[in-house]
Amino acid sequence: MTKDSLTLDAPVTDALQLGPRDGSNSRKVFIKTYGCQMNVYDSTRMSDALARDGYESTEDMEEADLVLLNTCHIREKAAEKVYSALGRLREMKKRKAADGREMMIGVTGCVAQAEGEEILRRAPAVDVVIGPQTYHRLPDALRRAKEGQRVVDTEYAIEDKFEHLPIAEKAKIRARGVTAFLTVQEGCDKFCTFCVVPYTRGSEVSRPVAQIVEEAEKLVDGGVREITLLGQNVNAWHGIGPKGEAWSLGDLLYRLAEIPGLARLRYTTSHPRDMDDRLIGAHRDLRTLMPYLHLPVQAGSDRILKAMNRRHTAAEYLTLVEKIRAARPDIALSGDFIVGFPGETDQDFEDTLRLIEEVNYAQAFSFKYSTRPGTPGAELKDQVPEEFKTERLERLQALLLRQQHAFAEACVGKTVDILLEKPGRMPGQLIGRSPWLQSVNVDAKASQIGDIINVRITGTSTNSLFAELL
Ligand code: SAH
Ligand code: SF4
Ligand code: F3S
Repeated sequence: MTKDSLTLDAPVTDALQLGPRDGSNSRKVFIKTYGCQMNVYDSTRMSDALARDGYESTEDMEEADLVLLNTCHIREKAAEKVYSALGRLREMKKRKAADGREMMIGVTGCVAQAEGEEILRRAPAVDVVIGPQTYHRLPDALRRAKEGQRVVDTEYAIEDKFEHLPIAEKAKIRARGVTAFLTVQEGCDKFCTFCVVPYTRGSEVSRPVAQIVEEAEKLVDGGVREITLLGQNVNAWHGIGPKGEAWSLGDLLYRLAEIPGLARLRYTTSHPRDMDDRLIGAHRDLRTLMPYLHLPVQAGSDRILKAMNRRHTAAEYLTLVEKIRAARPDIALSGDFIVGFPGETDQDFEDTLRLIEEVNYAQAFSFKYSTRPGTPGAELKDQVPEEFKTERLERLQALLLRQQHAFAEACVGKTVDILLEKPGRMPGQLIGRSPWLQSVNVDAKASQIGDIINVRITGTSTNSLFAELL
């Protein structure tokens, strides 16, 4: 509940698992990823770009020749956390230098974009600073850094970084597992008044159809069964179909569903304004498209929605939810909520609770409003006192948790298809994923990873379900 799907404050991975080591004495890179799934995807692409230059990935920072912090700027003290991590890395760099080993340090991601040069000033150990839209130039920046320069590269023209990035070879894709992310849309033009994303990720850009299809096919060829399309506003994706016709995300999903061997599609995260009929139709028609939708609303009061610049009302959101459920009755909804946006009264907050009651979410993520420098929200008067935010968040989370448990309980006794993803906690067990994104523990053999099997849900625990084979 404190984690959210597209944004995690804590590191999501300490390092990426990137397949077998070849035993050569190549250089090693350690990547620490903060933030949303788009950052997770970017870390993978960076490590693939660096592999071309002979960098292998490591999970052991001690043996790394290069440490990258792929950062997130979404909430409170994001930059401060990065600076304190850099302080610790500086000590490590000094210690390694005393042993005659060089260690380079790079800052990438959204804090890199927001802070730029300031990082070099405040963190003297940093060699390169690279934004989320310029990381295809990371290998080049590292070469310049090797020659003694300190490089900041956050300026981007309308240039497609993905054209310059290699797609990993089959063995590497295979080693990464049976589910994969694929960023199809970058940036955001919505400018919600609380949010830094339009500033850190830049304006909305969609990747071309052919490029997306090629990458999806390569992933499937490497054993991937489920692809999650990513974008901060993924349903704003648009492109040109093969006959020159305009495509929206719905059309792209119909196209990707044709790829043989691709069993499941998901996408995240969506803005209510961009749920068009074609996309809703895809939920009705495509069995490959999983019945789960992350559709953040943030608040249930029209006054606050307006102040947030969300550009829709609570009633419009509810109507949309009805329409989606009419198209796909078994769809599970998840959302994001912010409590304590400037000016939020008790009544506004009650409106949010009422909206939650009406929608009934299967999953949700909720946050106290956090003032982000440079956003319009930071200029607003009437900032809500911390103790109000705490109290409201507790009430909101208690309600959401009840709904989440009720949803899980309602699954008990049902038969569902699960995609077997990875070994479970107990020997002889695997963890699979239900259509509604729940983890499901079941007895199965490791050789079955990647299979979709039919099971009966037998019980629930805090964060997962139990099932038996049919
Ligand atoms: N593009 C997505 C959201 C991306 S950020 C959308 O429009 O829904 C993920 C979530 O972080 C947001 O949905 C919001 O709930 C939360 N968030 C963003 N900025 C925040 C801030 N300044 N304070 C608190 N929560 C914030
Ligand atoms: Fe941020 Fe709003 Fe864009 Fe989502 S739609 S990334 S919340 S500005
Ligand atoms: Fe964080 Fe940037 Fe993602 S601010 S949420 S890493 S887009």
